[in-house]
Amino acid sequence: MSLYSGLSTLPPDALLGLMVAYREDKRDEKFDLGVGVYKDEAGNTPILSAVKKAEARMLAAQDSKVYEGPRGNVDFCAHVEDFVFGAGHPARAEGRTLSFTAPGGCGALYAGVSLMRRMGTKKVWVSKPTWPNHPNVVKSLGLDVAEYDYAVGGTLSPTGILESLMQAEPGDGVIIQGPCHNPTGIDIPERLWTALGDLAKSKGLVVMVDVAYHGFARSLGEDMAGVRAFLEAAGEGMVAYSCSKNFGLYRERTGCFLALGSTPEGIAAATTHVAAIGRASWSMPPAHGAGIVATILGDAELRAEWEAELSSMRNRMIALRKALSDALVAETGSNSLGELARQNGMFSQLPITPEGAKKLREDLGLYMPASGRINIAGINANDIPRIAEILATAL
Ligand SMILES: Cc1ncc(COP(=O)(O)O)c(C=O)c1O
Repeated sequence: MSLYSGLSTLPPDALLGLMVAYREDKRDEKFDLGVGVYKDEAGNTPILSAVKKAEARMLAAQDSKVYEGPRGNVDFCAHVEDFVFGAGHPARAEGRTLSFTAPGGCGALYAGVSLMRRMGTKKVWVSKPTWPNHPNVVKSLGLDVAEYDYAVGGTLSPTGILESLMQAEPGDGVIIQGPCHNPTGIDIPERLWTALGDLAKSKGLVVMVDVAYHGFARSLGEDMAGVRAFLEAAGEGMVAYSCSKNFGLYRERTGCFLALGSTPEGIAAATTHVAAIGRASWSMPPAHGAGIVATILGDAELRAEWEAELSSMRNRMIALRKALSDALVAETGSNSLGELARQNGMFSQLPITPEGAKKLREDLGLYMPASGRINIAGINANDIPRIAEILATAL
């Protein structure tokens, strides 16, 4: 008998298990399409050159490790507000926005769902399918999860999204992904963002947009157009912003939680709650990654260098998508796989069953999760003909 014997053992994390199994696989030919990070042509996830330079500059200037305060790095917060709301958005001068440095996009999601709970939200809607950590965060905070239809057969279902969310009750929370939907790669067009904003406003839904891949689909401005259209129509809303992918800062836990309100009083009250949520969990946000981002975005040269590196990551993913989609169409004769080239970001979901994925792993050394999600950014261009040949056996 131990203090902990009342705990049941949870099932292992499937993706982490896949990573270990891939590492231990002794076969000469093996492919990892399961990883959740960007990889370059050599299979590495390097530190961006702009990040290295900013880090060196920051460390040389740093003379204390004292806490920065509940909002973390305020310059970082202002830069992310520039990205999300725009530099000249009138709500900022009117005190109708808030922003807090958070430990990664997940910290920002946690802050947002915690704030929803304090606002009286009982249920949070997530897309079907979605990234498993969305329902995870919602459930761990004791709220119910509901799903809205998102994509059917590899294409977006605007009516599915709107009809599902018509069923939501006033005060329900909704998490909507910004560019590069994980796991489908299928994004919401700007017109639908406006319709979602109108719906959120008319029904009183508490929406948080999760932006984890800013700049991975198109330019920084184009990638935020939908989010801005949503906020414009809804008038109020929250945003969880991650710098893990676009700055390659994964382990530095660099994110930002933002909110827009219709009154300065509402935002002033929300600010006290977000500060209290942070205080009761991480107490003070991490400083290192936010300092790097603020240094890069505050310096014209470093910023240009980062934007060029971001473009090159994006262009690599776009080229890989086109090549893999062409190869899959040629292998299978199915034009529907051409959709892959029109999807965005690192991930796409293939119509492969959990049994099919298991068979690919066991028989042919191709690793992917049971959901059929593949990470395009984990592929080497030279391997595409062989990967397409292997995938086609399960399609
Ligand atoms: C959809 C989505 N949201 C948020 C995140 C946030 O990640 P992090 O907490 O590492 O910034 C990720 C990362 O994989 C993601 O895919």
